[in-house]
Amino acid sequence: MISPARLVVLISGNGSNLQAILDACCQGVMPARVAAVISNKLDAFGLKRASCAGVSTVVYPAKKNQERSEYDRQLAEIVSAFKPDWVILAGWMRLLTNSFLTKFPNRVINLHPALPGTFPGTHSIERAFQAWQMRQINHTGVMVHLVPDEGVDDGPLLSQRIISFDEKDTLDTLEARVHTVEHELLVETINSVITDGIERTIRSAKSNTFRT
Ligand code: GRF
Repeated sequence: MISPARLVVLISGNGSNLQAILDACCQGVMPARVAAVISNKLDAFGLKRASCAGVSTVVYPAKKNQERSEYDRQLAEIVSAFKPDWVILAGWMRLLTNSFLTKFPNRVINLHPALPGTFPGTHSIERAFQAWQMRQINHTGVMVHLVPDEGVDDGPLLSQRIISFDEKDTLDTLEARVHTVEHELLVETINSVITDGIERTIRSAKSNTFRT
């Protein structure tokens, strides 16, 4: 029997996407297990989710005036100790430099609550909602991508899904819909890279027509 893929999940907050991963592993939806959850925030609720699931946690906050590259070098050591097959950024709210990324080539996967090339950085859902209210866009979405370098929410696409707006939408209803799609798409995509490999997942993301 093939041993389950080892995931190290990086979080900064609520951890609802981490929960989707933990549930999928526990229910045997994908051949993976979460080897560790790392948070840069002591009060991240996701740490409780990890502990409830019996998963090791590490809290690694940045020190005042700490060089970003130094933080990332140490972070890479922490993550490496758990021997990850895949490093999943699930609501990790810090930019990662090459000090970290070069240690895990083709192994870092990020979730972004908007479509490729749109609303990179923070408050993406809110910015998409405002753009829709100003009639600048008529749909938004969610993407999962590889993180090859220091680009923000950018990198080879692994999957994406469109989310339409509803005339009755408020920011809250849109956020709820985006999160539901995120939970599904992230699990599906991790499953795909584990079972089909990166190249096939990228090819299929290129050829797939949008799904809503
Ligand atoms: C998600 O919307 C993720 O895409 C973004 O931050 C949010 C984290 O949510 N980067 P959670 O912590 O997984 O609930």
